[in-house]
Amino acid sequence: MTQLRSDLILTARGLRKTYGQFVALNDVNFDLRGGEKHALIGPNGAGKSTFISCVAGQLPGVEGAVLFRGRDIGSLRPHQLAHRGIGRTFQISRTFLQMTVLENMTAAYVIAADSWTSLRRRVLARQQDKAANMLRIIGLSQRAHERVLDLPLGERKRLEFGMALAGDPDLLLLDEPTAGMSIKERHHLMDFVAERIDATGKTLLFVEHDIDVVLKIASRVTVMVRGGILVEGTPAEIAANKEVQAVYLGEAH
Ligand SMILES: Nc1ncnc2c1ncn2[C@@H]1O[C@H](COP(=O)(O)OP(=O)(O)OP(=O)(O)O)[C@@H](O)[C@H]1O
Ligand SMILES: [Mg+2]
Repeated sequence: MTQLRSDLILTARGLRKTYGQFVALNDVNFDLRGGEKHALIGPNGAGKSTFISCVAGQLPGVEGAVLFRGRDIGSLRPHQLAHRGIGRTFQISRTFLQMTVLENMTAAYVIAADSWTSLRRRVLARQQDKAANMLRIIGLSQRAHERVLDLPLGERKRLEFGMALAGDPDLLLLDEPTAGMSIKERHHLMDFVAERIDATGKTLLFVEHDIDVVLKIASRVTVMVRGGILVEGTPAEIAANKEVQAVYLGEAH
């Protein structure tokens, strides 16, 4: 087995993913330390979601290795990864829109339990209690019996974050949790996420386009461009990096 530094929770080595002739990830090496709030940034199409999906076991045909706590997880399916302690949300919402907030959260606990016995009435009641408790933590108790469809986007995203916490993951992968939100909502959600991550000692890898949010929340930042990693560093290093500035100025034009 590859020797790893003990503070590394996740390691990717030589990750490569192609779609026909197109190289979406090109030999990506990446280290994530336990307790980090690590932002993955870069222009549209850089490969950020592809990378997250590789780590989360959601893409076939990936070359290279992904180690979680030193163990190769490359061949594991998403639900197996959830049991090892990796949770994720998606760039596009995956809640059940016609169901209530409490039903969605309960479903997340049932799925996390990964057992049909969890559908028996007594067990289900316990999952519902856990769900109600999580709604309190994320401040959505008032909304418990409303349909997700009727929630403002900020609250829907907070619900998704809570649902990702249902399996009590050590590592959370959030792909653009603030997509479509106002500036105020973005800061509000990500302040909340950062506070929960710090309070529970979890590790966060998140994709975010709002640089202000990234520089405020992240403890480390990795910049991806065209399927590869351009640079990694502290928020201050990334903000001062000329290559990064050139990429973002180029994108703005
Ligand atoms: N299923 C697919 N088939 C073909 N090409 C794909 C597929 N999925 C992704 N790609 C391509 O791979 C590249 C990387 O996509 P990816 O979604 O990882 O980018 P991203 O960095 O998350 O971008 P965004 O900021 O827009 O979400 C893009 O050029 C995209 O068009
Ligand atoms: Mg993406």
